[in-house]
Amino acid sequence: MPASARPLKARRSPPLAGTALVPGDKSISHRALILGGMAIGESRISGLLEAEDVLNTANAVRAFGALVVRDGQGEWRVHGTGVGGWRKPDDVLDFGNSGTGSRLMMGAMATTPVMAVFTGDASLRKRPMGRVLEPLTLFGAEYEARDGGLMPVMLKGAAQPICIDYRITVASAQVKSALLLAALNAPGRTRLTQPQLTRDHTERMLKAFGAAVAIEALPEGGEAISVMGEAELTAVPVDVPRDPSSAAFPAVAALIVPGSNLSIPGVLLNARRTGLFDTLREMGADIVVSNPRESGGEMVGDLMVRASSLQGVEVPPERAPSMIDEYPILAVAAAFADGPTVMRGLDELRVKESDRLAAIIAGLRAAGVTVQELDDGMVVEGAGAVRGGGTVTTHMDHRIAMAFLVMGLASQNPMMVDDTRMIATSFPDFETLMRGLGAAIEAA
Ligand code: S3P
Repeated sequence: MPASARPLKARRSPPLAGTALVPGDKSISHRALILGGMAIGESRISGLLEAEDVLNTANAVRAFGALVVRDGQGEWRVHGTGVGGWRKPDDVLDFGNSGTGSRLMMGAMATTPVMAVFTGDASLRKRPMGRVLEPLTLFGAEYEARDGGLMPVMLKGAAQPICIDYRITVASAQVKSALLLAALNAPGRTRLTQPQLTRDHTERMLKAFGAAVAIEALPEGGEAISVMGEAELTAVPVDVPRDPSSAAFPAVAALIVPGSNLSIPGVLLNARRTGLFDTLREMGADIVVSNPRESGGEMVGDLMVRASSLQGVEVPPERAPSMIDEYPILAVAAAFADGPTVMRGLDELRVKESDRLAAIIAGLRAAGVTVQELDDGMVVEGAGAVRGGGTVTTHMDHRIAMAFLVMGLASQNPMMVDDTRMIATSFPDFETLMRGLGAAIEAA
């Protein structure tokens, strides 16, 4: 454990109760800053997630020449340069822990004749960038990367970009979004196909900013997305809904701590993000959505979550992209369920903030849970209760830290998490919010 690590301990807690105001959606927050920085005029953003990942994106957008101003909590203004108007940053761009911020920004600059150097923390410097950089060369961009595809990356945007027709083979919204952003400054129509449906916030927001985006379902599954280049984006206000990937932690805590009853209002309910809630309901979870409404081109609703007895289920592998960040907390719910929960189709979990599959399995085993590792997933043997009492290694992964703290709220013995500093990358108020609901989380 590094000297400056911040270990925490979570203990069996009384029923959780109250209202959990989780922070703004991370995916939408990154995109609002980036599109705002590429648009003409001033975009007002409210409810922006003020966490390290998003603040690094704000700094990068600023470094490319846009005016990015914070007016108050979650209230930001971005005055963009127009598509193709970005200038060369004065310094290296450090994206910290954020795959989304760095990959989307690579796309956003790749068709403008500027050069930038991208780096990040020890976790991000292990993550594959070739999946974005290689297709960006088809637009005319050039790059140098460590060992072929790792940060630090030097990216030189194309002086005379060309549009592309490209099949994306990984189920990654980050790759899709990077290429859509690059397409904005490439003359002509770029067409991308992807065999799996991944989150579509970029497409939705591009339309709101005035880009010509067309989406076509493919007969073999998946979809084709076309966007016209030399786009003119016009500033629009963005109201960021609350993050379902953050809501997942208090929601599962409420399910497993007996007697709990929580309300989690204003949560983004885009169907490509709600795989966890669908799965939990199939497991028997009492989660009720009320007041569904549209806000800024996205569905939003209020959740009521009550403690429930859960049954193990088989999670359809094709659901993985709609809950890719939620497997750590689903595995925790599965440990408290009765019977096995089978999760497959999780290759992408190997290249997240940590090898998440390995980190989840190690954490479960530390807590005394029986789990079988598969090539592309795992089977968690739920026994209705969890012994707990172990220490979990987070491997610089915020979601591993939060998931196992939630486990400790209902396990027979406390759970220790070796370092919780990374929680600040996505959910800085996690500890305060959870304590406010009654969670026994304390310094270890
Ligand atoms: C994100 C997409 C997902 C997700 C990440 C956010 C996005 O990554 O894990 O936290 O905002 O596009 P992939 O699309 O690469 O799986």
